[in-house]
Amino acid sequence: MEYLARCIEDNWVSSAGPFVARLEAEMAECAGCQHAVAFVNGTAALHLALVAAGVRPGMHVIVPDFTFAATANAVYHAGARPLFADVAPDTWTLSPEALEQALAGARDQGLKIGAVISVHVMGQPADMEPLSYTCAKAGVPLIEDAAGAIGAIYKDKPVGCFGDIAMFSFNGNKTVTAGGGGMIVTNREDWAARVRHLSTQARAAAAYQYDEVGFNYRMTNLNAAVGLAQLERLPEMLATKKAHAFAYDRAVTGRVDMQPMSRVNWAVSSCWLYGLRTNSTAAAGSLVKHLDGCGIEARPFWKTLSNQKAYAAAARMPAPYAAGLSGRVVTIPSGSGLTESEREAVIKALAGWRGKVVND
Ligand SMILES: Cc1ncc(COP(=O)(O)O)c(C=O)c1O
Repeated sequence: MEYLARCIEDNWVSSAGPFVARLEAEMAECAGCQHAVAFVNGTAALHLALVAAGVRPGMHVIVPDFTFAATANAVYHAGARPLFADVAPDTWTLSPEALEQALAGARDQGLKIGAVISVHVMGQPADMEPLSYTCAKAGVPLIEDAAGAIGAIYKDKPVGCFGDIAMFSFNGNKTVTAGGGGMIVTNREDWAARVRHLSTQARAAAAYQYDEVGFNYRMTNLNAAVGLAQLERLPEMLATKKAHAFAYDRAVTGRVDMQPMSRVNWAVSSCWLYGLRTNSTAAAGSLVKHLDGCGIEARPFWKTLSNQKAYAAAARMPAPYAAGLSGRVVTIPSGSGLTESEREAVIKALAGWRGKVVND
């Protein structure tokens, strides 16, 4: 309220203002990067991250098959096509082996790979070391889609600083929201300058002069005010979300009709969303219905993109692990506003459901 009032009083309400600069500085620090550029949303940020990375029409970009539509859509916005690859069973994120296979597959099919996007799923970091080693060896830029992973740690460092460039989202459903918004972070000064330039209509130094076709992708000061106030509460929100996740982990351990995402010892998930993998799409539907009957909102999570109409023309590699997650993961309440007694009610409701044990 205080920050928003300051925007109104000072009349800095649009796509410039002190809160935009402050949010950028705070996000650079939060991700351990030298540069940050604020965006109107994460999809726009990812679009220009791809452009800065050199992705051009005619190229392909390796994208995990288990992700939100925006990851693949940004590739199309940059004029390229996705090459979908499989995820790893322990993290549900782009598998280093699948990346190698996709690069080899691209060579065989004569596809030019412009970049690789690794998505940190539900706050769980991807295994960035082997992914960046493989990308560096192949001479392909690595982009982190950290949309929902603010506060996640990979090998003692925050996500966002492992690829050549990374993106965060401040959409309403994220741990830190700005109402809407996105952020690019990078250590590449030239890339940061280029995305900043392109996001502000590619205005040249003189008034109403442009040196290329640009975009109106900047975040407003009003959104940045909300984002900054939220970011100040990040440690507290992360702690609450982790407490929810660990309580759910304990509650479902040993069950054969649902499994939590496995936790790896080389990363700390930010626990943005809590997902349970059921044994079939029918079981996922049954669990959602059961929870709904208990007054609890749960949702089926992502479906693989490669078999959807919008991406019919995309290239793809076999993705059996992604297929095994598609439509079977159910997300349950995990917001930082969830109280302990509400969480206990969810746990009780989970205990009242039994799913078939056989996989479909
Ligand atoms: C994995 C992933 N990538 C990209 C995005 C796009 O972010 P935004 O909604 O801010 O455009 C999201 C948002 O939900 C996401 O979950």
